[in-house]
Amino acid sequence: MAEPKILIVYASRTGNTEKLAQAIAEGARSAGGVSVELKRARDTKPSDAGADAFAFGSHSAFEYMAGELKSLFEDFYTIRDKLTGKPVLLFTTGQGGQSSALASIDRVVGVFNPSWVKPGVAVQGAPKDADKAKAREMGKKLAEAAKKKVK
Ligand SMILES: Cc1cc2nc3c(=O)[nH]c(=O)nc-3n(C[C@H](O)[C@H](O)[C@H](O)COP(=O)(O)O)c2cc1C
Repeated sequence: MAEPKILIVYASRTGNTEKLAQAIAEGARSAGGVSVELKRARDTKPSDAGADAFAFGSHSAFEYMAGELKSLFEDFYTIRDKLTGKPVLLFTTGQGGQSSALASIDRVVGVFNPSWVKPGVAVQGAPKDADKAKAREMGKKLAEAAKKKVK
């Protein structure tokens, strides 16, 4: 059996959310036996929906996810069955609006009926060491869930 593939998709303008994505990737890789890819939302295509597990993240933009991530989800809508039942973790950063951005992604991705890996990671500003540790922990959980699913 091939290693389960984990795709981490993110939107980030000034690097905060990208750092969180990298910490999630580190945690997922630490589980071993998975392949992990990081992609910006604007570079992600419907054909990427074949991955075995996902993390989706964004900065808060007007208390919502970034437009490029919303646009990707609109593209995913017609092939939404490809995400059904797959492990999904969410993450956001913001200057106070990180939880509402997380809730906006939760609402949309919920339409695809994933297998949630919760809690999502919502961080204020640039991730500090404790935030990165939490992100690594959740990334590892995502990888474990992916391995269980594919076994
Ligand atoms: C256009 C725009 C709108 C934003 N709106 C919000 C907002 O509504 N609430 C909030 O908490 N932060 C808001 N922010 C701040 C960013 O979400 C925050 O600085 C985030 O950590 C930046 O992440 P990034 O470095 O990954 O781009 C906004 C930033 C931009 C550029």
